[in-house]
Amino acid sequence: MSGAGIPARAVFFDSFMRNSHSQDWLCYQMQKLTITIDGPAGSGKSSVARRVAATLGYLYLDSGAMYRALALKALRRSVSLLDEPTLEVLAKETHIELRPPKPEQEAAGAKNCVFLDGADVTEEIRTSEVAQAASRLATIARVRQVLVAEQQRAGSGGGIVMEGRDIGTVVFPNAELKIFLDASPEVRAERRWQEHQEKGERLTLAEVFDEVIERDKRDRERKVSPLVRAADAVLVDNTAMGIEETARLIIMLVQERERELAQAARREA
Ligand code: CDP
Ligand code: CDP
Repeated sequence: MSGAGIPARAVFFDSFMRNSHSQDWLCYQMQKLTITIDGPAGSGKSSVARRVAATLGYLYLDSGAMYRALALKALRRSVSLLDEPTLEVLAKETHIELRPPKPEQEAAGAKNCVFLDGADVTEEIRTSEVAQAASRLATIARVRQVLVAEQQRAGSGGGIVMEGRDIGTVVFPNAELKIFLDASPEVRAERRWQEHQEKGERLTLAEVFDEVIERDKRDRERKVSPLVRAADAVLVDNTAMGIEETARLIIMLVQERERELAQAARREA
């Protein structure tokens, strides 16, 4: 995605994410894994992925933010979400940048800052309207191809926690650790509703529940890269767990995977 004539490109500023304060940093440096977290809306992917990445000193990438940013651009230009050729061109021409949030943005709940063709759209992409448009756009194979190529390029060096819907199944099918994060629909909707409340948005819990359920259904039932648990993904249900606790559990799974890989490497040596 880029301006005219420039190859598709998204830039991810990760130096901050790589500054681990963990005492285990040396150990993690030995082999940087690719960690994928997929799951339905509101299951905690962004919050947990970001926490895991910060602890490990890994890069964090929110692939959903890319679909949302592109959807916002389509809405602003009044491009029909059924107009596949135009949306494909739009995807190729668009420059999306994900950056770590500033402290005040983080305090307001942002997990990253999203720039669309150079303009900050961090808040605009978090509306229900954009979420629905993103999920419609995400059913288009040729649009997905453009974004998936970007995601693969961003994560090609490993040492990344990437979250979305198809990361463990399509983007990084060979990832060393795959998580499928879930929670009950009621809890997921309530979490999202709480976020809208905090921003002063007047949506009812029932409206948010319907939006989340409709989007999940579309994401699970679409033909291209549907939301599905990869056969080798670990299912983590965090209905009754907080962000910190869920992140700690995933870090334990990372450490277990690292031990297995180290043992396999020793056997091969
Ligand atoms: O990225 P995804 O839609 O899966 O979820 P999220 O944006 O990380 O989380 C949605 C909301 O639920 C956020 O406000 C989180 O703070 C909250 N959350 C929670 O309260 N407990 C969890 N275990 C996970 C997320
Ligand atoms: O934060 P939440 O889980 O509600 O959604 P998101 O991760 O920001 O993703 C918005 C929409 O983009 C999803 O409902 C999916 O339709 C789409 N998406 C996708 O198809 N594949 C991904 N890897 C990420 C998001």
